[in-house]
Amino acid sequence: MRVFTLQNSLFFLTIILVSIQFLPLQGTNVISSPAEEILIKNSASTEVKKILKSACYDCHSNQTKRPWFSKIAPFSFWINHHIKEGKEHLNFSIWNTYSNKKANHKIEECIEEVEKNKMPLSSYALFHPKAKLTTEEKEELINYFKKMIKSGENDRKQTLEH
Ligand code: HEC
Repeated sequence: MRVFTLQNSLFFLTIILVSIQFLPLQGTNVISSPAEEILIKNSASTEVKKILKSACYDCHSNQTKRPWFSKIAPFSFWINHHIKEGKEHLNFSIWNTYSNKKANHKIEECIEEVEKNKMPLSSYALFHPKAKLTTEEKEELINYFKKMIKSGENDRKQTLEH
């Protein structure tokens, strides 16, 4: 009997694909205090809120929304990796726990990433048409970030520094 027939291979592949669906999903949302949210402290217009939420929040906040296809392995492994890494670098949901220095530095990076079209990740924008920023949306977002630094709105009380 031949073991590696096409039928056998397909059968084993199916078994593997089905089994990996049961592996636990990492990078699931954790609960954080709404008071630490960037949009609460740094008053954002409805437009800016909309842009941040549709283009950045899935990877840079504790409010990740996952469409059905993002839960299917092995696709989900790749997406989880982006979410985990994205949040490690920058998490808008715990914004007010960042020190002044860190927050201002992150903002500068945000301006740069958006200006250079590096963020949102192109692979993400491909599956989330709303995340593809128009020139006006980019400008609006960059102005919001710039205003935050200039107005000192980002500054925290000494007690929050760490
Ligand atoms: C699909 C997930 C995803 C989306 C959506 C996304 N990012 Fe990112 N972001 C990442 C990952 C992963 C990294 C870390 C690796 C890298 O720099 O490519 C990152 C890194 C960054 C960094 C660098 C932070 C540091 O300290 O190095 C900034 C700034 C940033 N993103 C801003 C944004 C902004 C602003 C948006 C929305 C316009 C956005 N990102 C949308 C996944 C994402």
